[in-house]
Amino acid sequence: MDAIRVVGGRRLQGRIPISGAKNAALPILCATLLSDRGCRLRNVPALRDIQTTAALLRFLGRDVEVACPEVTTATVSGEVRPEAPYELVRQMRASVLVLGPLVARYGRAKVSLPGGCAIGARPIDQHLKGLEALGAKINVEHGYVTAEAGTLRGAEYVFDLPTVTGTENLMMAAVLAKGVTILVNCAREPEVEELGRVLNKMGAHVEGAGTSVITIRGKDSLDPFDHAVIADRVEAGTFMAAVGAAGGEVLLEGAPLDDLEPVVVRLRQAGLHVERQGDDVLVGRHGALRAVNVTTAPHPGFPTDMQAQLMAMMCVADGRSVLTETIFENRFMHVPELQRMGAHIETRQHTAIVDGGFPLQGASVMATDLRASASLIIAGLVAEGETLVRRVYHLDRGYESIEKKLGGVGAEIERVRLEGGLP
Ligand code: EPZ
Repeated sequence: MDAIRVVGGRRLQGRIPISGAKNAALPILCATLLSDRGCRLRNVPALRDIQTTAALLRFLGRDVEVACPEVTTATVSGEVRPEAPYELVRQMRASVLVLGPLVARYGRAKVSLPGGCAIGARPIDQHLKGLEALGAKINVEHGYVTAEAGTLRGAEYVFDLPTVTGTENLMMAAVLAKGVTILVNCAREPEVEELGRVLNKMGAHVEGAGTSVITIRGKDSLDPFDHAVIADRVEAGTFMAAVGAAGGEVLLEGAPLDDLEPVVVRLRQAGLHVERQGDDVLVGRHGALRAVNVTTAPHPGFPTDMQAQLMAMMCVADGRSVLTETIFENRFMHVPELQRMGAHIETRQHTAIVDGGFPLQGASVMATDLRASASLIIAGLVAEGETLVRRVYHLDRGYESIEKKLGGVGAEIERVRLEGGLP
C-alpha cells in the first residue's frame, strides 16, 4: 500500500504543469458512446478514474486505448451491451454517466446504482426523473437502474437542484432525442460547458451549456470528435492553496484562471497574489496569511472540491476562519486528521471554525476521500517534521503525480511503499 511522505518547512518555488480536467474528461469519454465511430480525446490526465472509465467502456463493448494524455476509442465492431455492472460502478460514482448516452443510443440501459460514498449519500433521483421526462421507463430493483426508452422524446425538465453529472447525463440523453429539450436549473460548472462544446463538435445542437438553461435540438446520429480537454481548475486551485500555506511563488502552467475566479477572490483576500501571465498563472504568498470565511455553493460559488484544501491553508492563517459546506453532508472527514496534526478546528453540523496560527506537527494520517487527501498533503507541507499520508489511492483518483509536481517546486515529498501491516 502506498503512502505519501512529506517533511514540512519548505517554501515552494518554480513551475507546475496543470493537467487536463478529470471532471471534464469523464463525461466526455462517456459521450463516445453516442457515436459509432472512433473518437480521440487529448490532454487527458493519467488518473485511476480514467482507467476505470476505459474499463467500463470496454465492458460495454467499445475498444479503448489509454495512452495519456491521449485516449482513443475504436469504431464499434461488435455488439454493445448497454449494461454497467456493480463491480465497476462501485469503483467510481461517475460511471452513472453512461446511463444517458446508453439510453439515447441503444434505447435501453442497465446501470448499477452507484451507492453512497464517503462524502455523502449522493442520490441520482434527478438523473432518473429527467430521463423519465424524456420518455424513458425507469425501474430500480436489486441495486440496478434499468431504463427502457425505445426513442427518447424532447421535453422540458426543471432540476430540483443543480447537479453536475445530472445535467451532463441529461445533455447526453437529449442530443439524440426526437425534438427539443429544455433543461432548467442546470449546473453551471465549466466541465458542463466543456461537455456542451464536445457534443456540438459531434454535430449536436446544444445551446446554453454553462448557464442554468440548456436547450438541445435532438439529432438522428452524431459524429465522432477529436478534442483536447480543458485544464483542471481543482488541481490548479489545490496548488494555489499549497503555495498559500507553504509560502513562495509558483507558475501554474496552463491553469484556467477564469474558471477559478470564485477561489482566487478568496485567496487574494487571504494574502496571496494571483496574476495571469499569458496562458499561465503566477501565484505567490510572501507576507502573512489572513483568515477568510467561505461557504461552498454550486458554480460560480466557491467550489466544494476546494473546501478541504482551503481549510488546511486556514490552519496556518492568522485568526479565525469559518467554513460552511452546503453541497455534501459529510465532507469534513479531513478535520479529525488535521486535528491530529495540531489544528484547532471545531465543527458544528456543516460549519467548521478554524483557529489558525497554531503550529502543525507532522503525523501519520489517513486519507478518506480525494480532496481530503490533498488537504493532508498541504498540511504536511507546513507541519513541523514528517507527515505520512496513508491510503493515497484516494489521491491517485484525481491528482496526476502530485508528489512529483510538488517535489519539482522544492517540497520534500516522496511516495513510499508501506510493507505489510496496516494500509
Ligand atoms: C460532481 O459530482 C463532481 N464529480 C464532484 O467532484 C463535485 O464535488 C460535485 O459535482 C459538486 O460540484 C464529477 O463531476 C465526476 P452533484 P456529482 O450531483 O455530479 C445532490 C471530485 O472531488 N444530488 O452536483 O455527483 C447531491 O447529493 C468530485 O472530483 C441529489 O440530491 O455532484 C449533492 O448534495 C467529488 N440528487 C448535490 O446534489 C441527484 O440526482 C450536488 O451533487 C444528484 C445530486
